[in-house]
Amino acid sequence: MQKINPSEITPEHLYFSRRKFIVGAGALAAGTLVSFSCRRIEPAPPTGEDFCASAKATGSTDELGANLTSCRDITNYNNFYEFSLGKEDVAPLSANFRTSPWTLKVGGLVNKPRTYDMNDILSRFNQDERIYRLRCVEAWSMVIPWVGFRLADLLKEAEPLPAAKFVRFETLLDPDQMPGQKDRSFDWPYVEGLRLDEAMHNLTLLATGLYGKPLPPQDGAPIRLVVPWKYGFKNIKSIVKIDLVEEMPASFWMDYAPHEYGFYANVNPDVPHPRWSQSSERRIGELARIRTLPFNGYGEEVASLYAGMDLRKFY
Ligand code: MTE
Repeated sequence: MQKINPSEITPEHLYFSRRKFIVGAGALAAGTLVSFSCRRIEPAPPTGEDFCASAKATGSTDELGANLTSCRDITNYNNFYEFSLGKEDVAPLSANFRTSPWTLKVGGLVNKPRTYDMNDILSRFNQDERIYRLRCVEAWSMVIPWVGFRLADLLKEAEPLPAAKFVRFETLLDPDQMPGQKDRSFDWPYVEGLRLDEAMHNLTLLATGLYGKPLPPQDGAPIRLVVPWKYGFKNIKSIVKIDLVEEMPASFWMDYAPHEYGFYANVNPDVPHPRWSQSSERRIGELARIRTLPFNGYGEEVASLYAGMDLRKFY
C-alpha cells in the first residue's frame, strides 16, 4: 500500500470546511489551570442507547471557566486511525468494537507483573471525574469530563524496579475488528511512551469513561491514557499492554514522521509544528480561536518535570 504523506495526517482544513460551528463563549484561559474536579462516579453499564442521551458531568466548565465540549462533539469527532483517518467516520466504524472481555497486561521491569481483567480494574481503582483540556497537535481542542484513576496507582501495584525509566503503552492489534490496521503504511500496533516521572504524575490518568459513562469505542474503550499537558496523540486508546522499560520507547508517530513528532510532545505555543503554528487553537464547538497555553495550562503542576531541558530540542 502507498505510504500516506504526513501532511494527510492532519487535515485541519478539511475539518473546518466541512463543519458548522456553534457560537459559544470563547473562554480564553489566562494563567495556569487548577487541575481537576474530583467526585466519585459510578459509570452506568453500556446499554446500546444513544450514548449522549444520559450524559452527565459534575459541572459545565473546567476550573478556569472553559465550557465543557458537548458530548456529541467528543463522541463524533475522533482521531482513531485503527478505524479510519476520517474523524467523523470513527464513531460508526467502531460501533461494534468488542471491549468485553478485555485484559490489560502490566509487566516489564516490575516486581509484580499482573494481567488485569477490566472488571478487576474498575473494582480496584476508584473512578473519579476529572475535567481536562485535550489539545490536539492539529490545533483544535476539547474540554472533556473524563472518568478514570491515576496511572500511578496501577504502576505502584506493579512495583517498578530501579532500572525502570520509561513506560511503554500498546493498543490492541486486531485488524479484523480495526480495519485501519490493514493499512500497512503504518507500523501497528499504536505505541506510546512516557518517562516514569511523567507517568507517576498526579495529573496522568487512565480513563475508563467520559460524561459519567463507560468510554465509547471511538474514544478509546475500555481504557485509554490521558496526559493533559501533552498533545492529544500521546493519549493512546484501547490499551492492552503497559511495560516498564529502561530505554525511551519509540512511539507510533516518532516512527512514522520523526522530524514532526517527538517523544515529549508537551503542548508548547512557542515551538511550531514544521508545517503550522501551535500558538493558537480552535475549541471544538466554539467560533473564536484562542491562545494556546504552555503545557496546555498545566504548567504550574508540570513545568518542574522539565527543569533545565531545552524544550525546543526535546519537542
Ligand atoms: N490512540 C490510538 N490507538 N490510535 C489513534 O489514532 N489518536 C490520538 C489519540 N490516541 C489515536 C490514539 C490522537 S491524534 C488524538 S488527538 C486523541 O487520541 C483523540 O482522542 P479523542 O478522539 O477521544 O478526542
